[in-house]
Amino acid sequence: MPDYRRRAAREAMSVRLDVNGMMAEAIGPQGIGREEVEALAPRAAEVARTLSVRRKAGEMAFYDLPQQLDEVQAIKSAATAVRKDLDTLVVLGIGGSALGPRTLAEALGARSPRVVVADNIDPVSFGALLDGLDLSRTVFNVVSKSGETAETMAQFLVVREQLLRVLGAVDYKQRVVITTDAESGLLRQIINDEGFLDLALPSGIAGRFSVLTAAGLFPAAVAGVRIDEVLAGAAWMDTRTAPAELWRNPAHLLGALLYLAEVEHGRHVVVLMPYSDRLARFGDWFAQLWAESLGKAETVGGQPIHCGQTPLAARGATDQHSLLQLLLDGPADKVVILLRVDDHGRELSIPAGYGDLDGVGYLGGRGLGSLLNMEQRATELALVQQQRPVLTISLPQLNAFTLGQLFYLFEAATVFAGGLHGINPLDQPGVESSKRLTYGLAGRRGFESDRAEVAAWQARKRAEYVL
Ligand code: PA5
Repeated sequence: MPDYRRRAAREAMSVRLDVNGMMAEAIGPQGIGREEVEALAPRAAEVARTLSVRRKAGEMAFYDLPQQLDEVQAIKSAATAVRKDLDTLVVLGIGGSALGPRTLAEALGARSPRVVVADNIDPVSFGALLDGLDLSRTVFNVVSKSGETAETMAQFLVVREQLLRVLGAVDYKQRVVITTDAESGLLRQIINDEGFLDLALPSGIAGRFSVLTAAGLFPAAVAGVRIDEVLAGAAWMDTRTAPAELWRNPAHLLGALLYLAEVEHGRHVVVLMPYSDRLARFGDWFAQLWAESLGKAETVGGQPIHCGQTPLAARGATDQHSLLQLLLDGPADKVVILLRVDDHGRELSIPAGYGDLDGVGYLGGRGLGSLLNMEQRATELALVQQQRPVLTISLPQLNAFTLGQLFYLFEAATVFAGGLHGINPLDQPGVESSKRLTYGLAGRRGFESDRAEVAAWQARKRAEYVL
């Protein structure tokens, strides 16, 4: 296809950000004034410059993932090998090692082979999942960047024992693929010792930014998702988020408006509400990205800050009959992001019926998809009328190319908002502290003082406060 045609096709498939409902022009003083954005522009330009320098220095590796085409070949080959005689791929992972693959598989995956993401150690649900599997037609993909997360390793040990028992010491290895850091960690050591099929995670990428690595792309490829298109979409968004000027850069504008909403307008909750069931998991993925990246106690210079909006995943139209009342009339502390899919790829027409009843008859002849999209428009305006800030992000269709754009848009916006706050969006010290206390409780060597801390807290509890 000639370049100009390819570009036109990409333009037509571009994800669009509409910020009208955020602005004071639409919702009065509750909204963000254009002058506030102009006042932020010099600092925003400085943050953009710093990020670009750090990207060039290789310190922000996630930015360049869309260009990792060699990796994609390895991932596709592994997926093709695994898909033979496969009923189910079970991903064993948690946090960023689970939410990306689940979002991709549920949005775009085929029914067969099915991809299930087991991201918890609840003995009832995990046990029930294992009980229902034919182990000789199942592959387990163990995903952990650190290679030692307690939940993932515990799942792996349970599965390994079952596989060894049912398939024996030679064949069981065919049923495991391990995705972990290219060089370090205990899983890497296990791969080196035992020789499992493995995929490497590039260094310098936290779990919540790993959806465009083997962590997200291998399960997606097994589910039949066109992963090169996911990366092409991300690369397209990379191009669209290159301009220095805030008003021409959707990721920076998104990050800047959410930052201003929090810091200047007390909007401490950000609701993500996709009007598409296939995007419901995107809300969970976004919640982790936003919460873990921006919920920080200190700036990079060590100043106390305690910043970060609380993300809340919702779903349209379902939550119009639940959360929306609170969003419209409750505390004025929220920003709402609506996700809309213009063409759902399938329409179910609503047959005419009960034409004599006005409250039902008007539905006849419409489609469910178009009604869903009308509800999105209506919710946007209802929020505007109530002077509640709202953004709308539109996908022309939901496909690998647009979902790749969406991932990249939010990742770039998150890092940009982190820069405006002056915090490090790529670490997660809070998560690490909870991991350490768990290790202590479970008796891991070297974590004895963490165990003692938990015991001391249990001992300090007053009996009369436990009912
Ligand atoms: O974003 C992150 O870094 C975390 O949420 C991790 O993904 C999560 O803690 C799991 O870690 P790991 O992949 O090392 O098992």
